[in-house]
Amino acid sequence: MYFSEEKISEIIEKNDIVDLISQYLSLNKRGKNFWGLCPFHTEKTPSFSVSGEKQMFYCFGCGTGGNVITFIQKIERLNYVEALYFLAKKARISIDERANKKDLENVKKRELLFNINGTAARFFYNNLIANSKAMDYLSKRGLNKEIIRKFGIGYSLDSWDKLNTYLNSKGFDNNLIENAGLIVKKEKGYYDRFRGRVMFPIINLGGKVIAFGGRVLDDSKPKYLNSPETPIYNKSGSIYALNMIKEISALQNIIIVEGYMDVISLYQFGIKNVVASLGTAFTEQQAKLLKRYTNDIIIAYDSDTAGQSATIKGLSILQKEGCRVKVINLPKGMDPDDFIRKEGVESFNNYINNSLSLVEYRIYNSRKNSDPKILEHRIRFSKNLAMILSTLKSPIEIDAYIKKYSKEMQISEEAIYGELKKIRSKHISGNNRHNIISKFNEKEINGQLIAEKKVLNICVLYKDKAEKIFSIINEDDFSLPLHEKIATIINLKIKEGKTISAGEILIHLTDEEERQKASEVFKTDITGKDIELLDSYIDKLHSHSLENKIKKLTDRMNEYYRLEEKEKANEIFKEILDLQKRKK
Ligand code: CTP
Ligand code: MN
Repeated sequence: MYFSEEKISEIIEKNDIVDLISQYLSLNKRGKNFWGLCPFHTEKTPSFSVSGEKQMFYCFGCGTGGNVITFIQKIERLNYVEALYFLAKKARISIDERANKKDLENVKKRELLFNINGTAARFFYNNLIANSKAMDYLSKRGLNKEIIRKFGIGYSLDSWDKLNTYLNSKGFDNNLIENAGLIVKKEKGYYDRFRGRVMFPIINLGGKVIAFGGRVLDDSKPKYLNSPETPIYNKSGSIYALNMIKEISALQNIIIVEGYMDVISLYQFGIKNVVASLGTAFTEQQAKLLKRYTNDIIIAYDSDTAGQSATIKGLSILQKEGCRVKVINLPKGMDPDDFIRKEGVESFNNYINNSLSLVEYRIYNSRKNSDPKILEHRIRFSKNLAMILSTLKSPIEIDAYIKKYSKEMQISEEAIYGELKKIRSKHISGNNRHNIISKFNEKEINGQLIAEKKVLNICVLYKDKAEKIFSIINEDDFSLPLHEKIATIINLKIKEGKTISAGEILIHLTDEEERQKASEVFKTDITGKDIELLDSYIDKLHSHSLENKIKKLTDRMNEYYRLEEKEKANEIFKEILDLQKRKK
């Protein structure tokens, strides 16, 4: 935290959002809220709303929303800390310059690093255009000038200090250039990290160059050299070409490939929804980043062994984040770049359309490594198959797979079913949970979420009601993690005897995506009718949490039955009955 929480609260409190925004655009009162033309997208009828009560703004047209800090960040193009300074100054709030000097220095340093990288990228680009050897290499690989420009590809001269000298001449000092990872210090002094390589800039979502990857023009090693981690480059949190995804308007899914050349190649063939994880292990952070754009992901890694294991790992990470993932299984030894150049875009699209689900992919891999002529292989594969199929719910799908492989493996369908049943009975508690959840129909879930949103909004608008609400329910009663988090913040403030506005809640959320989602929660309108309905909302939350407890107990009960500990199971059964009585 750059500013103490109290300071931030003070800054928010002393800058009234309606006053502040009125200084930038004209607002008209309609109902409880103020309305105007959104400054963040072009529109003819006002869909930009400002709530004095909640100290929040929200645009129904483009979805931008937040508190005073968010507004200033966006409209003045400042970062978070700078926006705080800006608002503190506006409200004549004193800030301890010494405590914040270091943070401001960090901000400045990051900007310098972006600058250095940007300058280097332009230098590399100009070198490339003027260097026939490097241009020949790229044209041999099928890249034209337009695509080179689009991706900002460049060339680092085969020299020890050309980049260093150039950057010095632009006023950057060696310490910082080293910090950016562009030069390396040795006893005799500095030398350029990248020499004689095709340079691929990695660009962040703000359009700034944060790092480079450099490829040799021949077969020498290492094939690729990448920028080290720097204050502006965090490898495991970056995705190559994600900045391009932003330009696609109706994005259906994203294809992830391994390398720079794969992205560029597919893009040139018109497949633009493609990014690269750049050879390192796919991370949770990267999955979260991708999820901001779409839930549908297609993995198209190299078909070598390393690519396969990366595929399985990536799949499970993405699925854990709630993505729907499919896999493209290219012919042996080919990566997407090789494939599309050899077989053409239509063939590649065919592969996309026939991409495999996780189950299919797992079966496919297991099958590939088994030789039906060898008895042990047949047994191992059939057991594996049963294990993989145990994650499926549809009996038809299961039947189809068993039919397909039982003949080939010379193992009876019954035997595979038997194996499957054995595995299933071990997982009984897990499956039960599944069934109960799927019984919960969508309408109920929606009603629940609306009730949660209404309650949270009432809490920030009416302090006395908030206290009463939290004496009946607690944060566990909210089903959505974000709602639970907001509830926790409100409850904490209540315990401290303080009030809290929706705008203030946002400062407690550190994740930008979370803040955006939270501001959507607070766009919910509260009318007199909602106040009348408050008790029924609370009931809803309450019964949901009872339902949850019952679900958990049922799982435990089943587990005890399975272990044949009947007494313990019966005890839990009584508890469940008790809870069920309370439901009515
Ligand atoms: N990679 C890397 N360092 C290496 C090898 C690979 O950082 N020594 C990363 C690069 O981001 C590369 C990706 O892993 O793009 C995939 O590697 P590979 O398949 O070997 O390279 P390609 O992208 O296919 O490159 P090319 O077609 O130019 O050989
Ligand atoms: Mn390749």
